[in-house]
Amino acid sequence: MTALDVAAIKADFPILSTTVRGGQPLVYLDSGATSQKPKSVLDAERDYYEQHNAAVHRGAHALAELATEDFEDARKVIAGFVGARAKDLVFTKNATESLNLAAYAFSNASAIATHHSGAIDPRFILKPGDSIVITEMEHHANLIPWQEVCRKTGASLRWISLTEDGRLDLSNLDELIDSTTKVVSIVHQSNILGTINPVQLIMDRTHAVGAVGIVDGCQSVPHMPVNVHELHADLFAWSGHKMLGPTGIGCLWGTEEILEAMPPFLTGGSMIQMVEMEKSTFAPPPQKFEAGTPVVAQAVALAAAVRYLENLGMQEVARHEHLLAEHTVNALNALDGVRIIGPTTSWERGSAVSFVVDGLHPHDVGQVLDSRGVAVRVGHHCAWPTCRHFGVPSTTRISPYIYNDIADIDAALEGIVAAQEFFGVK
Ligand code: ALA
Repeated sequence: MTALDVAAIKADFPILSTTVRGGQPLVYLDSGATSQKPKSVLDAERDYYEQHNAAVHRGAHALAELATEDFEDARKVIAGFVGARAKDLVFTKNATESLNLAAYAFSNASAIATHHSGAIDPRFILKPGDSIVITEMEHHANLIPWQEVCRKTGASLRWISLTEDGRLDLSNLDELIDSTTKVVSIVHQSNILGTINPVQLIMDRTHAVGAVGIVDGCQSVPHMPVNVHELHADLFAWSGHKMLGPTGIGCLWGTEEILEAMPPFLTGGSMIQMVEMEKSTFAPPPQKFEAGTPVVAQAVALAAAVRYLENLGMQEVARHEHLLAEHTVNALNALDGVRIIGPTTSWERGSAVSFVVDGLHPHDVGQVLDSRGVAVRVGHHCAWPTCRHFGVPSTTRISPYIYNDIADIDAALEGIVAAQEFFGVK
């Protein structure tokens, strides 16, 4: 079925050979929320702490040199994974922080500009009458920060709405992104609908009006080959833990030009050039955005995750997931009383598939699946307005990854039918 040897891959993930709920083999289909970790990633973090741990960028001793080398090598590996240069990659604690870093650049710049005219790049200064454009399928990490920027600056929030099959309605794109628009921040692949968006087209429109373009790649980087330059964004955010890496690390890539111009988010040690009692100057990016002790062990482990994925080949990963998506949507379409929320074909969609079952609350579906050892996510998936758009309180989501095969999807499908029978809705 696929070039990926799923049995061999599963054997690399210790947690996948565990059992749950009274001895049921674990079928993990919740990778959209967080992925499991292969042994090489767990080992990399442990080896770092056992052999090289020290404060980076500041010690004059042997371990400090080794730790700094590990950290900066990891930056090169992780940046290279998305076709970027190490100096353009900022580490944060998660993708939410990466997106907040971007959002705070605008609200901080707008606040500073009220007291210090001329000190800030005008692209970041927002005022009433300006607009920020997002989409109706953003997860909360790319929604709430922009709501807050609007509250602080008086700018207004606009969004690209959705079609019935869960794609972006681009029919009025030129009216939505117009001369008032200062920021466009959109998701590459939806966490709830699975839709893969035409970000390049939207970023091109963004630049045509002189706005800053931001893309959230949390659900694309783990699942498909991504080259940041091909997306035409100014900033691109993603997280480590959804791509086999540890929790506690997020990434933000930016063009050299935008990172130079952006004011910092967090301030303090490690991000400065010169400090006096009343003022300071900042280090060049990426250090300007990495205040305090950075995420060293996490970066080392994330680099190991990148090596694992590169070894499989991201084209193969994407092909594998496409086949899983095709099987999932075809099977769900064929089930009576089940409705997919999002694209009902495998065209331009990822393998995360949300659905509702007539007469059943998603939590009941999730509970029956869980009792059979099948882990899925139920709820609004941190994308509440998307659920609202489709008139559902929540959905059940199957989100597979490299360690899942058709048998895993079938285990979920059998569980759905079992739930229908158990609750008498079939
Ligand atoms: N991490 C959240 C998810 O499960 C957003 O998709």
